[in-house]
Amino acid sequence: MTDLIKTVFEDGVLNVALNRADKKNAITQTMYLELTKAILNARDDDKVRVVLITAEGKDFSSGNDIADFISISQGEGNLVGSDVFQFLKALADMDKPMVAAVRGRAVGVGLTMLLHCDMVVAAKDALLSAPFINLALAPEAASTLLLPGIIGYPRAFEMFALGEPIDGGTAQEWGLVNRAVPSIVVDEVAWDIARRLATRAPNSLRRTKALMRDSAQLWELMKREGEVFGSQMRSPEAMEAFTAFMEKRAPKF
Ligand code: COA
Repeated sequence: MTDLIKTVFEDGVLNVALNRADKKNAITQTMYLELTKAILNARDDDKVRVVLITAEGKDFSSGNDIADFISISQGEGNLVGSDVFQFLKALADMDKPMVAAVRGRAVGVGLTMLLHCDMVVAAKDALLSAPFINLALAPEAASTLLLPGIIGYPRAFEMFALGEPIDGGTAQEWGLVNRAVPSIVVDEVAWDIARRLATRAPNSLRRTKALMRDSAQLWELMKREGEVFGSQMRSPEAMEAFTAFMEKRAPKF
């Protein structure tokens, strides 16, 4: 593990923490690789009953690292073979319970990965957004199915098309998170849930989750979304958005 992803194992719970607070936990290719390894190992290791995803610092994650977007968009490779897609596949295939603790910003994949967590605890003042539109990209991680499935089409379309955040209280009201609590107790409440899940019958839990999610369907959709995402990522409008972010100015579409 690099120090950008930290893991702790306690009481049957594997805690995987994003640890790049100075960049608001923007996720790089190396971090995706580490996250994938952690999830796959958790899946195969009988001692691990639950995975708990947390983040160091004030923010959960500002999403994919935008400098990485730029370098990937300039390369020839197929996005579906990339480290991020291996991470998404690991999420789709994970049949043990996953819990997440969200404080501050959860942007882009920082939000869409939550759709693969079975229970989410958010701070009331957390800000969750899926602003792929601001970078002229497209939604990923099977979020085009999962998000409308959870919050309904009109709300999901608004989140994708306007790219504006909702707070943790609204996310709870819309069914996107299980609990919205004061920021200071988010990790504690999430740990408590993870520990309780870890005491339940493990095979019964896995089979319940497998019945509730069609992982093959999710992966097929992720690949289809990936084709659109990949072609948008190489488009002039996305290049303008990436450059604008780096130059700390608003994009001109
Ligand atoms: N990729 C790379 N670096 C990122 C990043 C990302 N996704 N998000 C934030 N950072 C970096 C910033 O460049 C800045 O770096 P610097 O200190 O070297 O200048 C640092 O993290 C702090 O971010 P900053 O923008 O100054 O914080 P803020 O509180 O003003 O705004 C956000 C926070 C999350 C609203 C803003 O950083 C943002 O919009 N980030 C991009 C989110 C995004 O579009 N993600 C991809 C979605 S598809």
